[in-house]
Amino acid sequence: MSQHVATKRLTAPDILARKGGEPIVSLTAYHAHTAAIADKYVDFLLVGDSLGMVMHGFESTLPVPLDLMIMHGRAVMRGARRALVVVDMPFGSYEESPSQAFHNAAKVIKETQCGAIKLEGGRRMAETIHFLTERGIPVMAHIGLTPQSINILGGFRTQGRTREQWALIEEDARVVTEAGAFSVVLEAIAEPLAARITRQIPIPTIGIGASAACDGQILVMEDMLGLSPRVPKFVKEFGKVGAAIEGAIRMYADDVRSRAFPQPENTYDMKE
Ligand code: KIV
Repeated sequence: MSQHVATKRLTAPDILARKGGEPIVSLTAYHAHTAAIADKYVDFLLVGDSLGMVMHGFESTLPVPLDLMIMHGRAVMRGARRALVVVDMPFGSYEESPSQAFHNAAKVIKETQCGAIKLEGGRRMAETIHFLTERGIPVMAHIGLTPQSINILGGFRTQGRTREQWALIEEDARVVTEAGAFSVVLEAIAEPLAARITRQIPIPTIGIGASAACDGQILVMEDMLGLSPRVPKFVKEFGKVGAAIEGAIRMYADDVRSRAFPQPENTYDMKE
């Protein structure tokens, strides 16, 4: 008899319902095995286009193609069973028109079976967010520092440092909410403004370098694991995985060079 117990996966409405409740835990994930580990602890996993920089060594997220997002999205879906999986729409795949966005977002949903997509932009993307949500595609919005606009922004800087900048960012939050987004990432938004937006809008805010008052938090997994060579100041490193990998590889290299590896009793049978 099958022992398989189906696990119910969280949905975009489940995340929306967490507004003002228990903080939402999320991380980026790009591959199956780390997704399976994180799945025990997080509410959603984001297949972020940051994978272009973190996994593929690009200087920015701009070169990431849609097919790469789909490939990593499928891997994360195979690893995670309970968390909602959200896949980022990469630069150039959605900005041209609502119908371009629908065409590509539908491809992402069909080919990965993820539960939602994320796209960057506030007021300028409101029409598109409305178009997608009306047609069955849950959208997570992303405002503040939007890395796909790096060439316009001129660098990775906190947004809303002066009160004069607040009104436009607050408007971004309001319009993506009205357009139907089920949550919004607030990236690198000055702390008092991120806290204020969280009080103002009825959908969960997910902070990254923003405010502890947000309804949830997200970090790039490799950054919090201590695996990224350079991280922004706000990132707390919860592990030293980069150092652990280097230590293990050094020991392996020493074993090979001293002919201590493999051990004679090693076999191809799997360990228990
Ligand atoms: O691509 C990404 O990792 C993201 C997070 C920083 C929110 O968009």
